[in-house]
Amino acid sequence: MTNPSAQTFVNCVLSSAQKQPIRTGDSGKGHAPVNIALAKYWGKRDVSLNLPINSSLSISLPGLGTETTLSVIAANQPSISLNHQKLDNDHPFAKRVSDYLAYFNPLLPENTTFEVNTENSVPTGAGLASSASGYAALVLALNDLFQWQLPPTQLSLLARLGSGSASRSLFNGFAIWHKGEREDGLDSFAEPIETLWPDLRVGLIKVDISEKAVGSTAGMQRTVETCELYQAWPAQAEKDVKTLQSAIEAKDFTLLGETAEHNALSMHATMMATWPPIVYWQPNSVEAMQTVWQLRKQGTEVYFTMDAGPNLKLLFLETQTPAIKRAFPEMEVIKPF
Ligand code: PMV
Repeated sequence: MTNPSAQTFVNCVLSSAQKQPIRTGDSGKGHAPVNIALAKYWGKRDVSLNLPINSSLSISLPGLGTETTLSVIAANQPSISLNHQKLDNDHPFAKRVSDYLAYFNPLLPENTTFEVNTENSVPTGAGLASSASGYAALVLALNDLFQWQLPPTQLSLLARLGSGSASRSLFNGFAIWHKGEREDGLDSFAEPIETLWPDLRVGLIKVDISEKAVGSTAGMQRTVETCELYQAWPAQAEKDVKTLQSAIEAKDFTLLGETAEHNALSMHATMMATWPPIVYWQPNSVEAMQTVWQLRKQGTEVYFTMDAGPNLKLLFLETQTPAIKRAFPEMEVIKPF
């Protein structure tokens, strides 16, 4: 069901879009990378507009992401396919995408709807940021289909409505998502940080890629409502975003890694102090953390971050790759730049 304040928000963003006639058979394409937050988003100040309590900062992972094709078809129910499989209308993924696309139904000719074909190169719903690349790719496909020619920051606003972290997946490299202050949500968008860091590496440690038990929206709500420790989170998150911006500008890897790891553990501490508790970690997640700390003790500089799932993402510099590969032979290494 569409929410009236979200529909007003979409209409406001689209007021600056180009308007072209659209017909059955027209289609658009979008591709977006996943992103990993180094300073996390955890907590919403407005659920219907998907507005965050705190700002966040991320790095995109090229080569991993979502490719989406959107077409206009003559039918009365949207058709949603994920990884070449057509989903039932009441499948949770299909429902979420259809509910989101309903904000754009008023732009379609009568008796037509959307057909969505989406392909993820990462597992869906496993804390590997598939919803981030998913909604960013969907918004890029909408922009292509309707020929809106909106700038990336405006597309970031629309992607945010689908999934908060998607606001940051419109960009390569580092991105910052400003939490914004306005009630209408029009100042809560992401923008790129132009600094390149060619020898930075991200390693993926896949502990378990099955779908997570507690989705991020439900998890955030429960944390905000029941976790006393959460009071301390917004201030730390804002401070960490600023520290990370300085670390990126100065290419201070130690500061970047320490801040990112501390930020992730602080977010997970609020999850665990929620009631009923939210613990995404598995025994192998903790074992991998201990290996990271052991490597650091031995002089190999490597840090980790974790999202709403049991998998670890390692941060290190190119020169350390062989030592880290020896400790984690299965690790997939990504070059963000
Ligand atoms: O955008 P969502 O609703 O999937 O939430 C993302 C939450 C985290 O991945 C845990 C943190 C983040 O900033 O990406």
